[in-house]
Amino acid sequence: MDSACKVTARKIVKELRLEDKAKLLSQIVWETTDIKKIHEDLKKFLLADGPAGIRRLKDYFDDDIYNTRPSTCYPSPSTYASSWNRELLYRLGEHMGREARQEDVDTMLAPAVNIKRSPLGGRNFEYYSEDPYLTGELATEFIKGIQTEGVGACLKHFAANNQETRRMNINAEIEEETLQEVYLSAFEKPVKEGRPKMVMMGYNQLNGEFCASNPKLLQILRKDWGYEGVVVTDCYAAHRLGQGIRNGLTLQMPGEGEARIVERVLKLIHDGEITEAQLDEAVQHNIVFALEAGAAKKETSAAGDRYDRNKHHAFARELAEESMVLLQNKDKILPLDKKSRILVTGELAIHPRFQGGGSSHVNPWKLEIPLEELQKRGTQTDFLFGYKTGGSVQENENLCQEVLKAAVAYDTVVVFAGLPDLIESEGYDRDSMKMPAEQNQLIEKLTELGGHVVVVLANGSVVEMPWRKNVEAILESYLGGESGASAIAEILFGEINPSGKLAETFPVCLEDNPSYLYFPGDTKRVIYGEGRFVGYKQYEAQKKPLAFPFGHGLSYTEFEYAACKISKSKIEVTIKNSGERQGKEIIQVYVKKHTSKENIFPIKLAGFEKILLEPGEERIVSVELDEKAFMRYQPQEQRWNVETGVYEISVGRSVQDIRYSENITIQGKQPQITEDSSIGDMIRMEGMYERLEQAFQRHPVSLGFLEMTKDEDPLKSISMGALMTFNTLKRVDETLQDSEIEAMIQLLNSRIV
Ligand code: BGC
Repeated sequence: MDSACKVTARKIVKELRLEDKAKLLSQIVWETTDIKKIHEDLKKFLLADGPAGIRRLKDYFDDDIYNTRPSTCYPSPSTYASSWNRELLYRLGEHMGREARQEDVDTMLAPAVNIKRSPLGGRNFEYYSEDPYLTGELATEFIKGIQTEGVGACLKHFAANNQETRRMNINAEIEEETLQEVYLSAFEKPVKEGRPKMVMMGYNQLNGEFCASNPKLLQILRKDWGYEGVVVTDCYAAHRLGQGIRNGLTLQMPGEGEARIVERVLKLIHDGEITEAQLDEAVQHNIVFALEAGAAKKETSAAGDRYDRNKHHAFARELAEESMVLLQNKDKILPLDKKSRILVTGELAIHPRFQGGGSSHVNPWKLEIPLEELQKRGTQTDFLFGYKTGGSVQENENLCQEVLKAAVAYDTVVVFAGLPDLIESEGYDRDSMKMPAEQNQLIEKLTELGGHVVVVLANGSVVEMPWRKNVEAILESYLGGESGASAIAEILFGEINPSGKLAETFPVCLEDNPSYLYFPGDTKRVIYGEGRFVGYKQYEAQKKPLAFPFGHGLSYTEFEYAACKISKSKIEVTIKNSGERQGKEIIQVYVKKHTSKENIFPIKLAGFEKILLEPGEERIVSVELDEKAFMRYQPQEQRWNVETGVYEISVGRSVQDIRYSENITIQGKQPQITEDSSIGDMIRMEGMYERLEQAFQRHPVSLGFLEMTKDEDPLKSISMGALMTFNTLKRVDETLQDSEIEAMIQLLNSRIV
């Protein structure tokens, strides 16, 4: 926060009447009221959605949310997260920031970083990953990029807003360690390092309190993470204004009109729900925001901020090129020979799916069409529908037969398939992970003919691919934005070497997903029963067969991994491009606790780097490990902690394609001993058996219980010894006094490493 603005804001707050301060708590639809009327130094500010481009409404009071001014439609976040490219995300932020500035938008309501808990999540296309580390790394760069352009970013939806079903009131019930390690982790780095001007609270309830007024959540944001910006509700989600303000909420979007908000705030103060000092605190954040936005506007307009649409269109293409994931390429069927005979089929080749529905929807300047892009490059590239979304069963059967008859005359059939628009949108979840039946049928029948079949998928979230083993190649193009079509053509014809990797797992079927039994809950609550086993953390622990694992993605070149130097903060690995063309590789580092059962420390992504290598080039690449790489959250002690132990560090091309692993011992902090610690728990710590043996010298009964555990595995012990605690021992060992126990606990804790 700019400290000069902070000083001015404090001054302004002192000058304002209570009624005027109240008015500053409400946003009128997308804009504040004319706050210049309240104080001459303040200018009204404007918000607009933004994860995939600027969505500035033509008319703020229009109910048609798609009636927006044109802007560049970038690939969806599920697409660009697969680039695993921090620098590209920063540049994306800069591009969007420039467009926002041109549209007079002060803050973009992006990025959205909720975790993809289930493949069915209706907004998965708008979110980054099933992994919090990857999400946090990329979103932080995106925020920084936007904000260098003098436009604010709004990080949303804090937190655990992982489904659309009953999104405005469902209560997400999540145990503490899962909340911290999975759902909050995705937000932490973006808040602390990205320093967004605004954070939007989720619609939902979290463990019994609406996010917008959830004391615990707001305290984590304000106190634990030191966040100082504006905290806004999601649209129409201000449930308990008083409780929100007391804990750090500052703005309602939209809120009551002027007269009503004044009335409400006066009542809140009168009833003792909030103090005037708490109101001042909230209002001050909004004033700082308005002052900073005003100053940024002056600076950028002086610089004559205009952007070149063509350059932004080209950047959207670059993003798509880096993000699409080549899932399968048997016998190197791709890239296609431009001179070969190619039959393109599938309605999506001419009516592309390129973005998701809802508040991230934008109206592109110009939209490329896949078939046209292929025809520009291929010498004989023909098209047949194959299926029509919304076509009758008979019509689709006829279209399929037409393709089957024609296919024999071509070298390769390229099928454009995926999910129709209506299936993926904000506001509702998907019913299943399946693609439309007519598309599956077309692909299956084509594979039965025995020719070469390449499938290009366009979808914002994972799908089942029952035919995957029978087709030669699969390109996951996700939702590629306005220039995604040329990126597809470039990859298919080899003008671009694909380098995206999956930011989410493709399970074989929905039932395999860890949240399957719990998602989306009942009318009131959803239990996060799978705990921290989200996505690959569970698939790996249970060794589930998968369609495609987390981190997977192929290239047209080959990479060799050689010597690796491993320490707890840095991995140095030698990578060689041993193929014949330039390519980008994403080196991934995973950590798990070697000696524990999986449920104590699931495998997790702890670092990654994306690099470009020329053919034959070899390079030593350093991957820094995040400070939380070896930590987990201890709910009893309410803190993050590294447990001493042996950790396996793996380096690879995906979570399953591991090229090098090494065990290292990390010294951490052991949990503190209390009177409820069991002998079994204590003797798992090094040297503790001997210390207890000494402590119990004059207490034969306790010593007896300890000795029972001598040759036992404390986790599997069959004797009572391992389960006894100081509290239970003192009941059977009358020589043990409370004061002695206290002294023992103190001594033992002082010796813990
Ligand atoms: C969405 C937000 C969005 C807001 C404004 C809400 O329904 O959840 O992500 O920013 O609308 O469009």
